[in-house]
Amino acid sequence: MLMLDGMTFHLETYGCQMNVHDSMVIEGVLRRRGLRSADGLGDAQVIILNTCSIREKAEEKVFGRLGELASLKERGNLTVLGVSGCMAQRTAERVLERAPAVDFVTGTETFPTIPRLLERILAGERPIVDVSTGHPLPEPAERSLDVNGFRAFVSIMRGCDKRCAFCVVPTTRGPERSRKPDEVVAEVRALAAAGVIEVTLLGQTVNSYRDGATGFAELLRAVDAVEGIERIRFTTNHPNDMTEQVLDAVASCPKVCEHLHLPAQSGSTRVLAAMGRGYTREKYLRVIESSRAWMPHVSLTTDIIVGFPGETEEEFRDTLSLVEEVRYDGAYTFKYSPREGTPAASLPDSVPVPVMKERLARLNERVRALSDEVNRGLVGSEQGVMIEALDVDGPWAVRGRTRTNKTLLLERAPGPVGSVHRVRVSRTRGLTLYGVPVPEPVV
Ligand code: 5AD
Repeated sequence: MLMLDGMTFHLETYGCQMNVHDSMVIEGVLRRRGLRSADGLGDAQVIILNTCSIREKAEEKVFGRLGELASLKERGNLTVLGVSGCMAQRTAERVLERAPAVDFVTGTETFPTIPRLLERILAGERPIVDVSTGHPLPEPAERSLDVNGFRAFVSIMRGCDKRCAFCVVPTTRGPERSRKPDEVVAEVRALAAAGVIEVTLLGQTVNSYRDGATGFAELLRAVDAVEGIERIRFTTNHPNDMTEQVLDAVASCPKVCEHLHLPAQSGSTRVLAAMGRGYTREKYLRVIESSRAWMPHVSLTTDIIVGFPGETEEEFRDTLSLVEEVRYDGAYTFKYSPREGTPAASLPDSVPVPVMKERLARLNERVRALSDEVNRGLVGSEQGVMIEALDVDGPWAVRGRTRTNKTLLLERAPGPVGSVHRVRVSRTRGLTLYGVPVPEPVV
């Protein structure tokens, strides 16, 4: 029987940051069992795609990729092809039907058992499906860090109890489960000891975190107290859970970055109700107002869906006017994609694709123009910038990130990757800031 020890793997990740996190855990699990990264695709004996189901396009991309990998399997080195994550959880059978080259399918809770699945496959069993649920939360025993090792994702809760009519996440990731605060803090401490200085706390609705008396606000304060950590980010949020307590914690914890990702989805109260979002346009705007009252320079980003069933031109204009009113720093915008099994999938009055496309284009134009304006307003300001890369193409070879999560380019590195510096913004182009280090005071 072939041994796992010494086998080479290649992992591809689709979708959200939670998937990126899960891939790092998968990578950690594989390395612990003696597998190592392949030099290139052609060299890999095990290939795993960690997949996304949020929109149909995400799934089609994976099927396309599986087609390519099937022919690679016929030709060469590749022994095991696996699919994990949301798409696997949602449609394991269909994955096997459409991609018979796939040897195993594992869901969003079962990936810690991948080495065991690999052993069974090497012993001749295939295909294997394990998308069982109800397991203890899969948490990192030994994870891989990002390439530079100074940042890490920490999953603090999984699943979602919101019932947004368009969304597949409750099916793919199950009900909401929060981890114990002590465990989270212990993980952050361990990461800090390993040299990590920035953590991003992850959850499908991270700000609804709760374990007994500990809500998200208390957890933020506990993580803020961990020595060695310099920056704390968190995503994604539900506007209804963005309470005064949470805003107070974000504003008063020095390490917690002043950036809120607050998905609005629509600016029309009628559409929001049909989406089952649980707030009106006015309530959403009050959350924004409150956020700015706590943090006048907070950076605000959002997610927006255009073309939800029944969305009229006037209702779409409500979304445009919401964007104008908030003046977001940035927005992720999507065409509505019907997902099988979600309440919205059976709604009448679907918006024709050309209309959706045209609305998306109009929205994107406004979003871009506004972010541009917001960024131009930052010229002359001083920002704390963490250096992320030193070899960007061109004369602006150094890439950093502001606390507000904006990319800032510099000509010369004021310090190594992972160090933080004061930088004055000198100009902007599109979404990118350019800057010059502020000389350190001589002491
Ligand atoms: N169609 C289009 N966009 C969707 N999103 C979630 N479900 C759908 C869907 N069915 C978007 C939402 C969410 C983001 C992660 O993806 O805007 O906030």
